[in-house]
Amino acid sequence: MSERLPVLYRKTAYDIVFTQSFDELWQELAALGCGEKRLCIVTDSKVDEYYGDKVLELLEGNCVKAVKYVFPNGEESKNLDTVRGIYKFLIREGFDRRDMLIALGGGVVGDTTGFAAATYLRGIDFVQVPTTLLAQADSSIGGKTGVDFDGYKNMVGAFKMPRLVYMNLAALQTLEDRQYFSGFAEIMKHGLIKDAAFYEWLIENMYEICDRDLDTLQEMLRRSCSVKKLVVEKDPTEQGDRALLNFGHTIGHAIEKAKNFELYHGECVALGAVAAAFISWKRELLSMEEYYEVRDMFVPFNLPISVDDIDPEEILRLTKADKKMESGKIKFVLLKKIGRAVLDKTVTDEEMLAAIDEIYFKDEDQHA
Ligand code: GLY
Repeated sequence: MSERLPVLYRKTAYDIVFTQSFDELWQELAALGCGEKRLCIVTDSKVDEYYGDKVLELLEGNCVKAVKYVFPNGEESKNLDTVRGIYKFLIREGFDRRDMLIALGGGVVGDTTGFAAATYLRGIDFVQVPTTLLAQADSSIGGKTGVDFDGYKNMVGAFKMPRLVYMNLAALQTLEDRQYFSGFAEIMKHGLIKDAAFYEWLIENMYEICDRDLDTLQEMLRRSCSVKKLVVEKDPTEQGDRALLNFGHTIGHAIEKAKNFELYHGECVALGAVAAAFISWKRELLSMEEYYEVRDMFVPFNLPISVDDIDPEEILRLTKADKKMESGKIKFVLLKKIGRAVLDKTVTDEEMLAAIDEIYFKDEDQHA
C-alpha cells in the first residue's frame, strides 16, 4: 500500500509518495492540475531505456502535450551545457511558465532538471521521480538543485522545491549493486545523525535490505525521508541545522575528488563517516565500542571503511576547498552519540590527518 509524507516549505507543502509501481503517477500529477499543462520528462540515456517510454505513455493523451528530453547518463552531464540543451528544447516545444518538468532518474537528472526548472522563465514547476537509492534517500528531497562547474561539484545552483516527489521503490530492484549500496550510505547517515532507533532497525533488517525486499525498502525510505524532512523543514536553506546532513561529507567529498570520482559518492560518504566517527571517539563523544560498531556496520552493506592510494595531505587540502566552510573555518559534523550529530568548527588539521590515517589502507597493512 502506498504511503505519503508531506514536507512543509514556507506556507506550502509537497508530498513524498512511497509506492511500488508507476501506476499512481498520473493520478498524483492530475491532482496538481497537470491535465491542463505541457509536461516534459527529463531523463538520462540509461533510465530512459528502463522507464522513459513507460512514463511517457502514462502522460500521453492526458495532458496538453507530453514530451521527453534525454541526455547522456553520467556525472559528466551535470553541467550548464545540459541545462542549455533543456532550455532550447523547452523553447522549441513552446513551454510557458504554467507548464511542468518531470525529473525521471538519479541525482544528476534531479539536480540538473531542478536547476533548469528554477531558472527557465524565472522558474517553472517540477516533479521529482527519483529512480536511484541516492536520489530517493537524499537528493530529491529538500530542494537543492544545481550543476557542477569548473571541476567543483554543485558549484552553481538554486533552492527550488519540487511540487511532488514520487518514489517507485520497485525501481531500486534494477539498480546495479554498487549504486544501490552507495545510496544506502545516505540512509545510514540519517540514522546516525538523528535517529538511533532507525539505525538499530537498519542493522536488524540487514538481510531484507540487502535482498531489496519491497516492503522493507518502503519502510526504510519512509523512515529515512522522515529524518531528512524534519531537518529541511526546520532549515530549508542551510543556515544552521541542515548542515548536519553533511555528516561524512567533508572528508568524503575530498576523497571523491582526489580519486577523480572513481569511487561512488556514497562510498566516499561511508569513508568520511568513519573518519568523523573516529574524531568523535578521540574527543570522547563516542565510546571506543560505538566507534568500532559504526565503522563495522558499513561492511555488510558493501561499503568501504578504508581506501588505498591516497595522499593524506592532499585530502586535507581538498577539505578546505569544499563549500562547507564559513569564514575560513570548516563546519565539521561530529557525533555526540549515535543518533545525535553536532556541528563543530574547531576540528584541527591534526585531528583530520589522524582520521584520514585511520581510513588509509597502506600496503604495509597487508603484511602486518
Ligand atoms: N544532501 C544534503 C542536503 O540536502 O542538504
